[in-house]
Amino acid sequence: MKRLVLLSTIVFTLGLSGLRADEGVKVSPIDHAATLKECGGCHIAFPPQMLPSRSWIKLMGDLANHFGENASLDQAVQDDIATYLAAHAADAPATKGGARFTKGVGADSVPLRITDTPYWKREHDEIAASRFSDPKIKSKANCIACHRTADKGEFLEED
Ligand code: HEC
Ligand code: HEC
Repeated sequence: MKRLVLLSTIVFTLGLSGLRADEGVKVSPIDHAATLKECGGCHIAFPPQMLPSRSWIKLMGDLANHFGENASLDQAVQDDIATYLAAHAADAPATKGGARFTKGVGADSVPLRITDTPYWKREHDEIAASRFSDPKIKSKANCIACHRTADKGEFLEED
């Protein structure tokens, strides 16, 4: 009986991960209070898995000039967030499956936007530019306008 339960659990789990591969990408949601608070106010707190750690370090080093905004923080908070993001970046040792997000990013390239990575561009290459400039969406960076549960690390195909 126990064995049967175990077997069906395995089959169920495999079935689920198969489903996910077809229907979207899921990354571990952010579980760091300071990052959620300080980086989730103007846009969703972007998944650290989608950029290499050098990108997060550079971005966190110039928050006063953040895409036309001043997003400065106290040094201690800034350091805490930078450490969290770098530790969960695409190329961080603890990140599983991060390599796909930085495929094609040159070793000396430091993208500051997820939307500038070859991965992101490839995944969105069939979407017309007019879709992103739609008043309800406004920007490529407005992930949650199209992926309703992006703040939970879920990037599903939906409308
Ligand atoms: C205008 C709507 C729109 C916006 C804005 C948008 N996406 Fe997408 N995204 C899509 C669609 C539609 C697809 C599915 C494309 C396909 O499968 O052909 C997709 C696919 C993806 C995928 C791959 C999912 C899979 O099944 O492999 C990821 C990851 C993703 N988006 C992340 C993001 C991130 C991160 C942002 C914000 C920085 C973002 N998207 C912004 C519409 C959008
Ligand atoms: C005061 C508002 C504000 C705060 C706070 C803020 N950002 Fe941003 N961020 C922006 C704006 C504006 C953009 C550009 C959005 C666009 O292009 O539509 C942006 C873009 C980004 C992008 C690039 C998105 C893309 O195109 O792939 C990243 C990554 C990012 N922010 C990370 C962070 C991090 C990390 C924090 C916390 C330390 C943070 N942001 C806090 C305003 C803010």
